[in-house]
Amino acid sequence: EKQGFRHFMLKEIYEQPGVVRTCLEAYLNSDWHSSNGKPPVNLSLPAELYTDLEQIQIVACGTSWHASLVGKYLLEQLAGIPTTVQYASEFRYAPPPLMPNTLTIGVTQSGETADTLAALAMEKERRMNQPPQFKPRLLGITNRPESSLGLLVSHLIDTHAGIEIGVAATKTFIAQLVAFYCLAIDLAYRRQTLSADSLEKILEGLRLLPAEIEMILEVQERYIEELAHGFVDTQDFIFIGRGINYPIALEGALKLKEISYIHAEGYPAGEMKHGPIALLDAKVPVVAIAMPGGVNYEKVLSNAQEAKARDSQLIGVTPKDEGEAAEIFDRLLPVAMVDEILSPIVTVIPLQLLAYHIAARRGLDVDQPRNLAKSVTVE
Ligand code: F6R
Repeated sequence: EKQGFRHFMLKEIYEQPGVVRTCLEAYLNSDWHSSNGKPPVNLSLPAELYTDLEQIQIVACGTSWHASLVGKYLLEQLAGIPTTVQYASEFRYAPPPLMPNTLTIGVTQSGETADTLAALAMEKERRMNQPPQFKPRLLGITNRPESSLGLLVSHLIDTHAGIEIGVAATKTFIAQLVAFYCLAIDLAYRRQTLSADSLEKILEGLRLLPAEIEMILEVQERYIEELAHGFVDTQDFIFIGRGINYPIALEGALKLKEISYIHAEGYPAGEMKHGPIALLDAKVPVVAIAMPGGVNYEKVLSNAQEAKARDSQLIGVTPKDEGEAAEIFDRLLPVAMVDEILSPIVTVIPLQLLAYHIAARRGLDVDQPRNLAKSVTVE
């Protein structure tokens, strides 16, 4: 069933272009045009879920929590809705004050994560006997609509990734991201927070992503495999990013630590100078995600330069033809030149491959890392 791949994780990494295509087909109205009056997105969610919406709170764990952080960025920046993201295990025991007109989203690929289910059940329960504007509005984002999550919440977005076997989440993460893009676009459209032009640009960009992921897989995998050989004995890694790519730095670090057992941390690049920079020396490589187009690009490059001054080996996830980046970074993991707002869907791919190849080279059980289970059904 691995279809010639050495591990399920690698097979699932390769399934990602197809997963993005499937999700876009499921969520987008293909005949949408700004002038024909149809909404661009159809998530089959009832309008009352969105009525008078004042805030969104998201609960999740692990990789799903990282996808939720990207979601927060999109919901706030595209649709203008104040959004919080909490670890489900923390939310439950310190629930925020009850606010009216709140949408609570639980994100769990398995639909069985105990902490996420418990947080949602708590929220449902405490809102049940409240005045109408406080009533529970619960939405689940999951790859398993038939799971326990499906029984708990009244509405779901199905992420259509197919069963994921590798313990490290890859294709389900990508699918969660696509779900959040479409949810944010849907809300932005309904609330009219985006111009028709910006909307069209984002939709067009989304449709190009599968081919861009394919490019990275085709062109880079062998190179990343070779690069990974140089890091089999590395003990610590730092991943940095800003803005919408900060959660991708966290995700790159989590992928690496869970399957290779190498200590890795993700930081918002601007935070390095407030402590973590003390860790850096020639033994600690720094992976920086630098996508041109916004203010974050220059800022990440200057944060990367600060790391270089501490002798860290610098690896850049950045488009190839950017002269400035090529000079700063010792190694490049090139990605397509995509709009910064869409870039997480491409920037995470080389980081998945890097983690995979380091772990595989170390001879580890990539699909079944020690101490981990695919579904964490205990609190
Ligand atoms: C990381 C990973 C875990 C899960 C987490 C939540 O690769 O797989 O961090 O993301 O246990 O799982 P779900 O999404 O099933 O709730």
